[in-house]
Amino acid sequence: QSPVTEATAKAVPALPDAQTVTAVTHYTDRLFSFRVTRPASLRFRSGEFVMIGLMGDPHPETGKQKPLLRAYSIASPSWDEELEFYSIKVEDGPLTSKLQHIEVGDQIILKPKPVGTLVHDALLPGKRIYFFSTGTGFAPFASLLREPDTYENYDEVIVTHTCRDVAELTYGANLIESIKQDEMMIELLGEENLAKIRYYPTTTREKSAKMGRITTLIENGELFTDLGVPPLNPETDRAMVCGSLAFNKDIAALMEAAGLHEGANSEPGEFVIEKAFVG
Ligand code: A2P
Repeated sequence: QSPVTEATAKAVPALPDAQTVTAVTHYTDRLFSFRVTRPASLRFRSGEFVMIGLMGDPHPETGKQKPLLRAYSIASPSWDEELEFYSIKVEDGPLTSKLQHIEVGDQIILKPKPVGTLVHDALLPGKRIYFFSTGTGFAPFASLLREPDTYENYDEVIVTHTCRDVAELTYGANLIESIKQDEMMIELLGEENLAKIRYYPTTTREKSAKMGRITTLIENGELFTDLGVPPLNPETDRAMVCGSLAFNKDIAALMEAAGLHEGANSEPGEFVIEKAFVG
């Protein structure tokens, strides 16, 4: 065998739909975010998700590699020239056990077919929008909070984020802080629009200014008293929900009890739901 053929045989196959990592930030041993180049042809609506991943390990006998893909909400807004993602790290998670080690310059696979229900088109017009999230479920809202339509459509934008501890709130807290201070963001979204954001972070396993599951704080009315807003009303209030399956189910029940109906792209309603990427 000539050295050339040997080299060719060993060459790593180019990733299909490859994009290059441009930034990586680790927040805790469970959470990180990263940015990648955006395919020139990719158009999406803020709040949608795409399939991303890496090549899996070679098959022990055939040596063949298959892509390992998972759904990830795009955390960056539709106008951004790069794409941002916010991810959990799961030690034995097939994808995230590898993905957590990516570095600037590495490549990931990104299928450029955005879909999802956490989009303004799936909601009827209203006065006040709630973004309810837990854990990495904050990601689609990181996109929507940087989207001008969010502020054009609503007078108030209430963002709740519940995590186990304070460190897990960092990505969301930093994002809100940065959009309120970044000159480019202020110019794009408007200072008076940014004043519509009401950020309501809570923790469940570490002491913080506000503790408790958001579901409990809705049920006992504390959320509304704390913010000085009336209880949920299907005439005025809209909601987008993103968290674990159990969380989504519990919030959906609370929305329905308040008279809000679930919407979809084909039939807009008063609230919409999407499962956050887990594992
Ligand atoms: P808790 O600590 O009481 O389980 P995780 O990190 O496990 O994804 O959870 C993120 C946050 O979501 C935690 O603060 C957790 O609270 C909360 N949570 C999990 N399930 C629900 C649920 N069904 N309703 C409301 N909050 C939930």
